[in-house]
Amino acid sequence: MSRRRILVTSALPYANGAIHLGHLVEYIQTDIWVRFQKMRGHEVHYVCADDTHGTPIMLRADAEGISPQQLIERVWHEHKRDFDAFQVGFDNYYSTDSPENRAFCEDIYLQLKGGGLITVRSVEQFYDPVKAMFLPDRYIKGECPKCGAKDQYGDSCEVCGTTYSPIDLKNPYSVVSGARPERRASEHHFFRLSDPRCEAFLRGFTQGGERLQPEAANKMKEWLGEQGEHLLTDWDISRDPPYFGFPIPGTGGTKFFYVWLDAPVGYFGSFANYAVRRRAAGAAIDQDAFLRPGGDTELVHFIGKDILYFHALFWPAMLEHAGYRTPSKIFAHGFLTVNGEKMSKSRGTFITAESYLRLGLNPEWLRYYYAAKLGPTMEDIDLNLDDFVARVNSDLVGKYVNIISRYASILNKHFDGIVLAVDPKSLVKTRKYSMIAYAADEAVREAYENREYGKALREVMRAADLINQQIDQDKPWDLAKNDARKSELHVLCSDCVNAFRVLTYYLAPVLPQTAARAAELLGLEYPFAWADLARPVTRVKPYQHLITRVDTKQIAALVEANRESLQPAAPQQSQQRHAEHQQHAAEESAVDETISIEDFNRIDLRVARIVDAQQVEGADKLVKLTLDIGDGTRTVFAGIKSAYAPENLKGRHTVMVANLAPRKMRFGVSEGMVLAASGADPGIFLIAPDEGALPGMRVK
Ligand code: MSP
Ligand code: ZN
Repeated sequence: MSRRRILVTSALPYANGAIHLGHLVEYIQTDIWVRFQKMRGHEVHYVCADDTHGTPIMLRADAEGISPQQLIERVWHEHKRDFDAFQVGFDNYYSTDSPENRAFCEDIYLQLKGGGLITVRSVEQFYDPVKAMFLPDRYIKGECPKCGAKDQYGDSCEVCGTTYSPIDLKNPYSVVSGARPERRASEHHFFRLSDPRCEAFLRGFTQGGERLQPEAANKMKEWLGEQGEHLLTDWDISRDPPYFGFPIPGTGGTKFFYVWLDAPVGYFGSFANYAVRRRAAGAAIDQDAFLRPGGDTELVHFIGKDILYFHALFWPAMLEHAGYRTPSKIFAHGFLTVNGEKMSKSRGTFITAESYLRLGLNPEWLRYYYAAKLGPTMEDIDLNLDDFVARVNSDLVGKYVNIISRYASILNKHFDGIVLAVDPKSLVKTRKYSMIAYAADEAVREAYENREYGKALREVMRAADLINQQIDQDKPWDLAKNDARKSELHVLCSDCVNAFRVLTYYLAPVLPQTAARAAELLGLEYPFAWADLARPVTRVKPYQHLITRVDTKQIAALVEANRESLQPAAPQQSQQRHAEHQQHAAEESAVDETISIEDFNRIDLRVARIVDAQQVEGADKLVKLTLDIGDGTRTVFAGIKSAYAPENLKGRHTVMVANLAPRKMRFGVSEGMVLAASGADPGIFLIAPDEGALPGMRVK
């Protein structure tokens, strides 16, 4: 077997949200494959990073009153903590906001430019005059042109389902500032995907060989169309400041790379950073062999089906024409559903990795369950919570661990833990248990290689079933009572321990921690190498439990902990509704992460008395409020004009957010926000405290 050299990546998670069970499908899927390849003796480097740039991250940092760098630093630690706990064994977990990434982006851009593949054109877009920034479409809301529903996004109406372009919205407003957006033109840089060189390359890339799954190759055929159809259009790779990202060389800081340009390049940035760290540790890797064309190394990307377009079109076309190697494989997976439905906050099935860990659930349960469900296709996978409990308990505890727990205690009690050397060749007849285990070797290997984890685990569990049946027939507990049959019992025990060892090897890519614990019990070196599959155990230590059962109560608690009961839809939350890419399933980011009580306590809510309320000249939604909050007055512009006449507000009490960063609006500076309720039905309802509350009292 020749030693493969493989650079493996998982998609880089956005640094503006928590890792949830949907993400983990991908990281667990990749990690299993990587662990398997390493066990096979191949040279594998698994790199990833946080995807840190772009408008949502910039605005979120702004809203939190911190710099984007502070935000991404904090999130990096949260992500790393979750990945470590789920035993996702990245060789390097980095950030796209890195000098290595910037250097690669600049080089790629300049190479493309030199090759005539960059073009500059003027583009007209919505512009927020208050925030002084161009607005991505999803930051514009307004009234549906068809049914008139308020507060609809620029692409479609959630009330009547009509789709349209943001220009069609009536009374559009910026989600960021509330201001009326203007149309403005600016120059944008494009990657000329429409160039015949790109099309020719992509036809070969996507249709030749087995780089893509069949479903993905078909999608690509659709995107590329027939010869002569020229469906590919140029790709806008620049954004105007303010933008959190890398400046485009030669633009004097007036243009920045769009986040989706620098994100995949971040794979290389992370790898280069890893190579440097390895060199410092005296174990250099040949970086160019992995990043430049012509070598015998492989580049393998694991991604979700929602980002296929970026990985199978833009990314390889960019690499090819900038002098870099192109991906060897792109493996796309489907989306996670929970109990057959989209993950949902109100049902409590939008489950964060953090909550799973906090409630003490074992990450290996989830790894096992996902593996049992995963295949090589782009089909969605369902986490059925009842099935999860049943499957983990019956397979892992009832079948796998059962084998060793039955024999290890006998071995310890009667034979001092000594395992007989059972010669693989001469003792075929006495090796009935381990023969069953060995028989699955090839099928298991092939299944892992082809990402058919469900199949691999079915093979393992089939072997476990057969072994357990054999144990039932052999009745070792009876033999143990019969001194004359002790040596027969000793052979059986020894055989069985080895069978268990072989199954543990098979499960090791999925259950690294259990495998390490079993290795400790059996006195084996860990991590395992597949080449040692036939190396027998010589002695077992006193048995300790390897993995516990899932309790249904834990699942109920998990769902409860993730159930969102708060009213949604403050504008700040809905800004993050859509992810950076349009095709991304909206429900993923539709919902926010849970917050801690400390987070909540950061919001300084005060009882306020409205001492004055005025019309605002030229604003159709705003009322200017002067609020007494005990220690002085504040000015707040509130969007409540449609529901309240200013003269009726004077003297009323309400609640204000007292520590909101002041915001400059067209009409003046707003120093906070008052709380009001609104929903799908018309109306805005100002919140008021009960009789007796005084200005300045804290609301908690
Ligand atoms: N930042 C981009 C990827 C850039 S790669 C150069 C992104 N980030 S993400 O955080 O939205 O998603 C990261 C990965 O997790 C993606 O491959 C995505 O498909 C996957 N998943 C996110 N939600 C998922 C589910 N609910 N189910 C399965 N995979 C999901 O996309
Ligand atoms: Zn509508």
